[in-house]
Amino acid sequence: MRHLLSTRDLTRDQAIEILDTADRMAEVGQQSVKKLPALRGRTVVNLFFEDSTRTRISFESAAKRLSADVINFSAKGSSVSKGESLKDTAQTLMAMDADAVVIRHGTSGAPQRLATAGWIDAAVLNAGDGKHEHPTQALLDAMTLRQHRAALAGEETTGTGLDGMHVVIVGDILHSRVARSNMWLLTTLGARVTFVAPPTLMPVGVEHWPADVVFDLDTALARDPDAVMLLRVQRERMHAAFFPSEAEYARLWGLTPERLAALDAAGATTAIMHPGPMNRGLEISSAAADSPRSTVLRQVSNGVAVRMACLYLLLTGAR
Ligand code: CP
Repeated sequence: MRHLLSTRDLTRDQAIEILDTADRMAEVGQQSVKKLPALRGRTVVNLFFEDSTRTRISFESAAKRLSADVINFSAKGSSVSKGESLKDTAQTLMAMDADAVVIRHGTSGAPQRLATAGWIDAAVLNAGDGKHEHPTQALLDAMTLRQHRAALAGEETTGTGLDGMHVVIVGDILHSRVARSNMWLLTTLGARVTFVAPPTLMPVGVEHWPADVVFDLDTALARDPDAVMLLRVQRERMHAAFFPSEAEYARLWGLTPERLAALDAAGATTAIMHPGPMNRGLEISSAAADSPRSTVLRQVSNGVAVRMACLYLLLTGAR
């Protein structure tokens, strides 16, 4: 594997190899010296054309824990605002001898273009492109789901997929690269996916995807899923009214305190996931986000381990 552009491209063996490597990388995070010399002398460029907190910081932390040199590039305040193209920006950074380029871009397919256009000679890692994919988010979500199941069953995570698990993904499916990457990866790992959204936020052609489609959240939650993943309502990508009001959205598709109480009353073991950043009170209530079921912060720490694994495997070719 030369690049990480999408989870759709990953085989089950490749995905499990990344997750097993991430488990070992997480152990590094438990040591007093949280560093490995694996990428000493290598350079990782973080190329962010869209805002990010978790992904940018965790890629930086991951590269530093592997002893790589890191160059952080943010489009805001750069020569991109003077009209510099992706090609020229990338080649400028390559002149600094980058071994890997981590790219987040508002245009679907930008990482693919960077990887295949012949402009640069570096591993390309997609950190989120438009509405297309966010593969490392799906991998860290899969790591979190493996841990959730292992904790309940008292089993090891190593070498396992997510066979038989059921994940309900709720909300702004239309604009969500997280939903798409999760759908492909969860399916490859043997899990079942149910999408829940208002009809206006369900993509055209969703019936051809490997996911069940439900429009009522309570119906989906009554199926006792292993996890419910709330998606951020992406107001910045919405140029039309997709639902009547935020109060209406929260009532029908939000994980409200009442829905949380219903999960508790049913004795469900459903984990509550969110990729962040959260719109508290809209797609997720504070009661749910801060509850013992919530894996939100675990997902963030798993993000460092998963990104260490991806950088390590891509840059060393190690197995
Ligand atoms: N989940 C996620 O991609 O968060 P950021 O936008 O903060 O990176």
